[in-house]
Amino acid sequence: MRVASRMTYHRPMVSPVDTDAAILAEQVAYYRRRAGEYDEWWFRTGRYDRGGELNAAWKADAEIVEGALCRWLDTRRPARALELACGTGLFTRWLAPRVGELVALDASPEVQAINRGRVASANVRYELADLFAWEPDARYDLVFMSFWLSHVPVDRFDRFWESVRAALAPGGVAYVIDSGWDTTSMARNHVRPQREVGIAQRELNDGSAFRIVKVYYELTDLAQRLDALGFRSGLVTTPRYFIHGPVTPQNAVADGAKVPSQ
Ligand SMILES: C[S@@+](CC[C@H](N)C(=O)[O-])C[C@H]1O[C@@H](n2cnc3c(N)ncnc32)[C@H](O)[C@@H]1O
Repeated sequence: MRVASRMTYHRPMVSPVDTDAAILAEQVAYYRRRAGEYDEWWFRTGRYDRGGELNAAWKADAEIVEGALCRWLDTRRPARALELACGTGLFTRWLAPRVGELVALDASPEVQAINRGRVASANVRYELADLFAWEPDARYDLVFMSFWLSHVPVDRFDRFWESVRAALAPGGVAYVIDSGWDTTSMARNHVRPQREVGIAQRELNDGSAFRIVKVYYELTDLAQRLDALGFRSGLVTTPRYFIHGPVTPQNAVADGAKVPSQ
């Protein structure tokens, strides 16, 4: 595990009209437009192909993350699960067969159409939602998010986790998978982001450019932020690319609920 010092995330210089809301809208537009080429990132094709050695390192880390998630799900078998920002279904496909029912939220109908085609499972219900305006109206045994937390601006972190808490049934647990800091995870032509800024530029295959929020958490910092909100982080790193693991409300730990292991 690589250890970095505690970081402070800074807002970049923005013009008065260039608001938080504008960047979040750009982020939605980016993922809507990217839907048909999104999976190239996970499968290391096209601009994400970094050559044999790095691709192999990525694949090994992806297998660790997927294997750990499937084992965790097989142990817990959540009856009711919620997936935030489900995307094209790269993780919905592992969740759906291992939970009773799954609600899959995303702001993009384009990615949900791909997800639906990939997963084709009667126990998954798709709902369009803007997660920055989202208020949970049900309680779940699992709130899952892969590569979503890094797209939540740091100054919305606390509010976001209060929503997660409100979505959790008694004994429920969140599960997070996200990016570690390694710039070879990006497309070959992506501008290397300044980690501390929390905003990155991304491009599509046609060259169009978008700004998105991208916060690369260091594990200790993330655990401290979660602890301050009353959650216990069980996240660990893979050798190179990812962070992953359960996040448990501390009242559940104090109440003697089974604390999930890796
Ligand atoms: C990096 S992708 C992650 C997708 C999927 N979880 C995965 O692991 O492949 C981020 C997802 O967030 C969605 N998204 C972006 N802004 C959103 C918003 N405001 N509300 C809900 N979903 C949003 C995008 O449409 C996209 O599917």
